[in-house]
Amino acid sequence: MKFEAPARSRFLPAAGLALCGVLVFALAAFTADAAPQDKKPNKFVGAAKCKTCHGAEETGNQHAAWMKMEHAKAFEALGSEDAKKAGASKGVAEPQKADQCLKCHVTGYGAPPENFAKGFDPKLGVQCESCHGPGEQHIKRRMAAAAKAEPGATVVIEKDELVPVSPQTCAACHNKESPTFKPFCYFKRRDETKHLNPKAKRTEEDVKRLDLVCGCGDACPTEKCATGECGVPKSK
Ligand code: HEC
Ligand code: HEC
Ligand code: HEC
Ligand code: HEC
Repeated sequence: MKFEAPARSRFLPAAGLALCGVLVFALAAFTADAAPQDKKPNKFVGAAKCKTCHGAEETGNQHAAWMKMEHAKAFEALGSEDAKKAGASKGVAEPQKADQCLKCHVTGYGAPPENFAKGFDPKLGVQCESCHGPGEQHIKRRMAAAAKAEPGATVVIEKDELVPVSPQTCAACHNKESPTFKPFCYFKRRDETKHLNPKAKRTEEDVKRLDLVCGCGDACPTEKCATGECGVPKSK
């Protein structure tokens, strides 16, 4: 089965909205800073900003889930003895300062300075926005929506709001250019990585997509594992 990137219309319960309503005031300064100006880039804001709405246990605490992942320590890891060894093989003496290493161990590496919001901290490693895309616009829209939403209203995440996670998202870093490359299966790794919201109401299409697991059995990983072509429904 060929993997398709998710559609960006998800219907979600109002519970998250109530929470976000409370945060509108707390985040007012942030919105002012991010006033709509079409020509400006959609900025990387950093994981701490996401925590304000994605840090609650009842909606899956994605921030805590990320903190437990190696991604959150990816910059730190470049300071280790192992990193020095891996660096030496590429002629790099200080991995934490080298383009050749930072490009996959921090978020948004190589983007111009105006693409980062004030307070963005690259030392936090591979943050939310490495997989979900820059979050400034998403936050602005969610705050605006929360401010005027009726109780019980559904949340619709717009198509251009975030970048859908796909096998290519991971392959940007999980590839042979990594000096410590370990062959990668999208579906296996997605299951270790995804941090779902138990309260989300999903479209049938999304349920099907999230049910896919690797169908290559003991032969995994194969070429198909990296591209997401190996997916088979788990529930069958
Ligand atoms: C002002 C509140 C708010 C902030 C801050 C916020 N989000 Fe969200 N986000 C929401 C709401 C509401 C939803 C829909 C309910 C849900 O999935 O939790 C959502 C959904 C999502 C989804 C699921 C999208 C989909 O199509 O199902 C992702 C991914 C996401 N947010 C990532 C982020 C990232 C990354 C950040 C930080 C850059 C962030 N969010 C910051 C409110 C927020
Ligand atoms: C193309 C992206 C990419 C580049 C470039 C890259 N890394 Fe990594 N690095 C990864 C990924 C992905 C992992 C996770 C496991 C793997 O290697 O597949 C990783 C893991 C590591 C680890 C953890 C060790 C382990 O076995 O899990 C160290 C240490 C490391 N990298 C050091 C470096 C150093 C030093 C450089 C620069 C010379 C570098 N990396 C460049 C993507 C990259
Ligand atoms: C290494 C990549 C990666 C990182 C880093 C990451 N996520 Fe995710 N996230 C995923 C994947 C994979 C999924 C499952 C997405 C899918 O296929 O629908 C997901 C799903 C989500 C969802 C939707 C949950 C649902 O029920 O549909 C939210 C919200 C979210 N992430 C927020 C965050 C936040 C906030 C951070 C940082 C604190 C973060 N993510 C960091 C990969 C990542
Ligand atoms: C910006 C680069 C980047 C992206 C994008 C990325 N990763 Fe990683 N990933 C890394 C690095 C670097 C490490 C190693 C961190 C460390 O060891 O400190 C890692 C480690 C991991 C690990 C820990 C196990 C291991 O191999 O060492 C898993 C699981 C993982 N990534 C899954 C994913 C998935 C699934 C996606 C896509 C949804 C993804 N990653 C996207 C850079 C990335």
